[in-house]
This record gives sequence, structure tokens and C-alpha cells, in this order.
Amino acid sequence: MIKFEYANISSKIIGEQGLDIEASFSEYAPRIQEIITNLNMNKDKPGSWLQWMNLGYNEETVWYVKEFAAMVDGRFDNILVLGIGGSALGGLALSHALLKPYWNLLSREQRDNFPRIFFLDNIDPDEITALLNILDLKKTLVNVITKSGSTAETMSQFMIIKNKLQELLGDDYRKNVVATTDKQAGILRQLANEEGYKTFVVPDDVGGRFSVFSAVGLVPLALVGLDIDEIIKGIKIMDLALKNTDINKNIAAQNALIHYLADKQKGKYISVMMPYSSRLKYVSDWYVQLWAESLGKEFDRAGNKINNGPTPIKALGATDQHSQIQLYNEGKNDKIITFIRVEEFDNTLNIPNIFEYTGLNYLGGKSINQLINAEADATAVALVDYKRPNVTIKLPKINEYYLAQLFYMFEMQTAIIGELYNIDTYNQPGVEQAKNYTYALMGRMGYEESAHELNEKIGRNQQTAGL
Ligand code: PA5
Repeated sequence: MIKFEYANISSKIIGEQGLDIEASFSEYAPRIQEIITNLNMNKDKPGSWLQWMNLGYNEETVWYVKEFAAMVDGRFDNILVLGIGGSALGGLALSHALLKPYWNLLSREQRDNFPRIFFLDNIDPDEITALLNILDLKKTLVNVITKSGSTAETMSQFMIIKNKLQELLGDDYRKNVVATTDKQAGILRQLANEEGYKTFVVPDDVGGRFSVFSAVGLVPLALVGLDIDEIIKGIKIMDLALKNTDINKNIAAQNALIHYLADKQKGKYISVMMPYSSRLKYVSDWYVQLWAESLGKEFDRAGNKINNGPTPIKALGATDQHSQIQLYNEGKNDKIITFIRVEEFDNTLNIPNIFEYTGLNYLGGKSINQLINAEADATAVALVDYKRPNVTIKLPKINEYYLAQLFYMFEMQTAIIGELYNIDTYNQPGVEQAKNYTYALMGRMGYEESAHELNEKIGRNQQTAGL
């Protein structure tokens, strides 16, 4: 199992900036027990948005995903995923972590005959044009993913690509499309039915940012040869461990409570995610979305205006030791840092003993592996010296099994802290607001009134800016 270490948040180590862990755990034990019991009891209740807790047990989906991957095996050179937010970040983070680094630059042989994979999760015209110039669309399987079926970013990309595919392949273009969307609602579902695309379902009551273990994440991962069964094993073992209602034995509850109390009692409302591994770089992007969209809420469940906001930040070790760490050590003491460390990398890279200079010869004969872990230790100790709280999650290795554990732990941690804050973890009115404004500005029918108002506001802004 992955491990969680929290000594560096304790007041025994960092004094009054830290928490009295034993006292806090025992004070909150009944509340945590109640939260975990309720989450498990309510997970099948329609409208509770807790179906993400069942994704590790959805054998039918796993079977269909594997069957589809086997069916298209060898047919495509590229997988192109179109999606944004929760519809892209999980697949992106897991494929980046689990595939061999620089996957898309490897030869087909080096990729064991599996395709390259690209995620378009933005609408930059230069980036999209460049990618379409590189990809041979005839040999590209496009996985368009949108739960709502109408997100402007995803659907505009799809409209461009569908058009090009159809020009190239005629009616056969549909064999190059697989759509992941709601089982019956939304425009993409309607289109898929009319055009006859292969489809997968985003299950009911699974929000985008909690959908990584549904077909949303599993389809792209299976298409590039990753081991879906190991992912499922990882989710299940973690789910069982996190069903434990005793806070002393439940790492998601521990980290949720630590973050909650660090925010509420010690003013540490910024949550920095800092893996010491380039392969885990996008895990931070996924975490940032999960934390921000789930926990940044204007109102609590009782309707009180609280503007809740534990702000997530992404960092990367060791790179950001030469950037953000200055701020974390000496700036405002308002952060709690989560390190993710890898105990055993796939490769051991030795540093040759080639220089006699005293400033370099200490490196010779050591390994890069030793160096990155020494840097992680050094950063944690320096933070402690400055009385800055930090916790560490240790992954024995980077593989499907441990990554699934990690992601599921973060999902559960988010669910638990949402309950502690007493907010609706699963809605996103702030995101919907911007989506609706975009529809209005782009002239979607039904949004005319809002468009008029918006144009006035934009005009005012530009005047103020002297444009
Ligand atoms: O987590 C969420 O709910 C959002 O980030 C959505 O995933 C994102 O807005 C994309 O929505 P959709 O899948 O409907 O295109």
C-alpha cells in the first residue's frame, strides 16, 4: 500500500504553527466515523453524486473497455482525446505517469505496438492547427469525452476534426470516433446515435472530476496498453482500507482532517501538491482541479455565505526548489505542502566519477535516484526549520496499482474534507456561470439577454483599461 506520513504537521515538530495531532484525531474521531459511515451508506442514493465510490466494482465497464481496446488493437497510430477539466485531466495525469516517458517520441516497436496519445484540453488555435498538421487523421482514433455533451471547447474541437475526418474517409470516418458521454442526455449522445459512433457512458451521479475510473479515464488508458485490471485492484484495496471508520487507520480521513484544521485553526489554507517525479507532474493538475472545484464554494449547506477556499497549488520537485521553495520557506506561513515520493524508480541512473573538483566530486559515484530523494528530504527538513507544515505520501513504485490507490485516496480525502466544511463537494456553479457566459457571447440560442448585458460589461472593462 502507499504510505502517508504526517509527523511534520505536528506541534511537537513545528511548534505552535502545527497541530496537536493526537488530541485532534481523538476530538474528531466521532465526526470522522459518522462521515465515513454516511458516505458508504449513501453512495447508492440517487442524486448523492457518490457513484465514484462504486467505479472499482464496475466489472461490466471494465470488460467492455478491454474488449474495445482489443478490437481496435493495431489499427491506429494515434489516440486523440478531446475533453476538458474532469473529462481530460485524469486520463492525462495517469497516462503521463504510467507510460514510458517521451512515449510519443518512441518508435512503434518501443511502444510495443501501441499508439501514441494526445490530449487536446484547450482551444488554442495555434496548438490545434499544429497538432492537426502532425497527425495522420486516417490513422487516428478520436475519443471525444464530455458528460454534458455540449461543452463549447470540446465540441468545437470535435466539429473541426469530424469535418476533416469526413473529408478524408467519407462515411467510414465514424470508425475513427469513440464518444464518452451521458447515457441518454446531451447533444453528443444524440449525435452518436444518429451517426452510429461507438460509445461509452459517463455513469449517472459521477461528476467530471471524480470520473477518472469510469470509461472517461479507462478507455484512453486501455487503448495505449495500460493494465486496467491492476488499476481496478488498486482502487478496490484502497476503497476497502478507506472504509475503516477509525481515523487512526484511515489515511484519507487523516489527511482531510489535517488540511481542514490547518486551514481553520492555523490559517494554512493553501495546499501545495509537490511530487518528486516528473512522471507525476500532471497528478498535481488533476489534484488542483479536484480540490478547487470541489471545495471552492460560496455557500455552505445551510445557505451561509462562507466563500470556502482551500487554494491548491501545483509544484514539482526538484524543479521548484529553484523557484517556489523560497516563498514556501520564507514567505507567508499560509501553506501546507504535500510531497509525493517514489521509493523505487524504474531506472537507476549512476553519476560517473569523472571530476576531481571538490565542488563536484561528492556527486560522482552516487545516483540521480539518491540525489532526488536527498533533495526531497532536504526540502522537508528546511520547511520544518522554518516551521512550515508538510506531509508526505510514499509510493513504492510508479505503476497502475499504486497510482490507482493514490487517486482514490485523494478522491476520498476530498469527499471527507467537503463534509467537514459542510459544503456541496459535487456542484460547480462557478464553472457553470462561465460556461453560460461563453454560450451567450458566442450567440447560442436562448442566451440573447445575457449576451447583451455581457457585451455592455466587457465594453466598460475595456474603457477602464483605456482600450
Ligand atoms: O469536474 C467537472 O465537473 C468539470 O471540470 C467538467 O469535467 C468540465 O467542465 C467538462 O464538462 P463536460 O464533461 O460536460 O464536457
